[in-house]
Amino acid sequence: MNIGDGIALAEFVQRRERVLRALGPSVGLVLAGDGAPPLSGRWLPDWNFYYLTGIRDEAGAAILFDPRAEDPKKRCTLLLRPLNPELEEWDGLRDRISEKLKKATGFQTVLRAGSLARLLTVAARKRKRVACLHPFSTYPAEVSPDLALFRRVVERTVGVAIEDRSTLLAEMRAIKSKAELAVMQRAVNASARGFGAAVRVIRPGITERDVQRAVEGGFAEGGADGPGYNSIVGSGLNGCVLHYMDNSCPCEDGDLVVIDAGARVGGYTADVTRTYPVSGRFTPEQRDVYTVVLRALAAATKAVRPGVHMSDVEAPARAIIEKAGYGDFFPHGIGHQLGIEVHDVTPDGPLKAGMVVTVEPGVYIQAKELGVRIEDDVLVTPRGGRSLTDAIPKDIADIEAAMRK
Ligand code: GLY
Ligand code: MN
Ligand code: MN
Repeated sequence: MNIGDGIALAEFVQRRERVLRALGPSVGLVLAGDGAPPLSGRWLPDWNFYYLTGIRDEAGAAILFDPRAEDPKKRCTLLLRPLNPELEEWDGLRDRISEKLKKATGFQTVLRAGSLARLLTVAARKRKRVACLHPFSTYPAEVSPDLALFRRVVERTVGVAIEDRSTLLAEMRAIKSKAELAVMQRAVNASARGFGAAVRVIRPGITERDVQRAVEGGFAEGGADGPGYNSIVGSGLNGCVLHYMDNSCPCEDGDLVVIDAGARVGGYTADVTRTYPVSGRFTPEQRDVYTVVLRALAAATKAVRPGVHMSDVEAPARAIIEKAGYGDFFPHGIGHQLGIEVHDVTPDGPLKAGMVVTVEPGVYIQAKELGVRIEDDVLVTPRGGRSLTDAIPKDIADIEAAMRK
């Protein structure tokens, strides 16, 4: 079992203890989710489960929280799927339950998942309250997994209330610890290597795919585990497609190329966008649009501080873009929370110190085949926003100088 990704085991234990304290008397459940079929890509855990355990290779696992359990060792139980040696011969060997495994996971009680139904029912009957920790889903989707199980328990007993604690983990995940910020800085540093590699290869005729390869090669050289999300490399008109994925066209002389990519280190991803002139020099019109977006980025970054909402961060950027006459060409929000997921969980309420958000204004004029987005990752500090991605050049003079080399 692989655990940690740069975060100490003690920190995962502390996170679970915080959940136990926050639950009061209520029973909680966090599920890792099920596996994708073999060969169709790597299985990924539910990110709340990952945040609480650091475990990313145990499909079907669960954490049962019972804060009022008489035996303190049973307040937080890790449940793992039974071993299946024939399956594991294909998909990867798994550990037996042992003292060594308990030490490695920081759980004092580790059981097989077959015990979950009995443990959950008994705990719910005793405590009379079960708390939903997974975010609720919207109605066309499946019911959130803990609520689905709680409903089955409630159907078979009486007097158990289901309560909504679905914002707790979002609130915890949004405030980054020192260790998380250190891992995120490593993700940013690896991203800088990727963008540096892009600047070296961009020239007329190179394909978006080759630029993507250069970016992701730079991530790897910078120590990344890989890209944190599908890298976007869109030149010309493709730069106007916000989540462009083909990355298959040649970059043409005179076009801009939008690169939105972030390295993943450990469990955390960066999310960076830079826009480069394929020829190495911006045209006057590109320069004009680029300058507006860059000013919008600076104004929005300056607006980041504890106590404000993302709408307050967006307002000055939108005002600049609208005043320049490009209001209709900025169709998306100014940014989002960043962390384990590229669009990370969003807690209610204003920004707080310790959060990391993206700031990413853009202007996309399809008729001119001209898209510009510039995206930084910004730490909310008590004194205001601090960009983590400033080392990746974004001033026109710096970009043109780097591309001349
Ligand atoms: N990379 C997706 C985004 O910037 O939101
Ligand atoms: Mn992005
Ligand atoms: Mn983003």
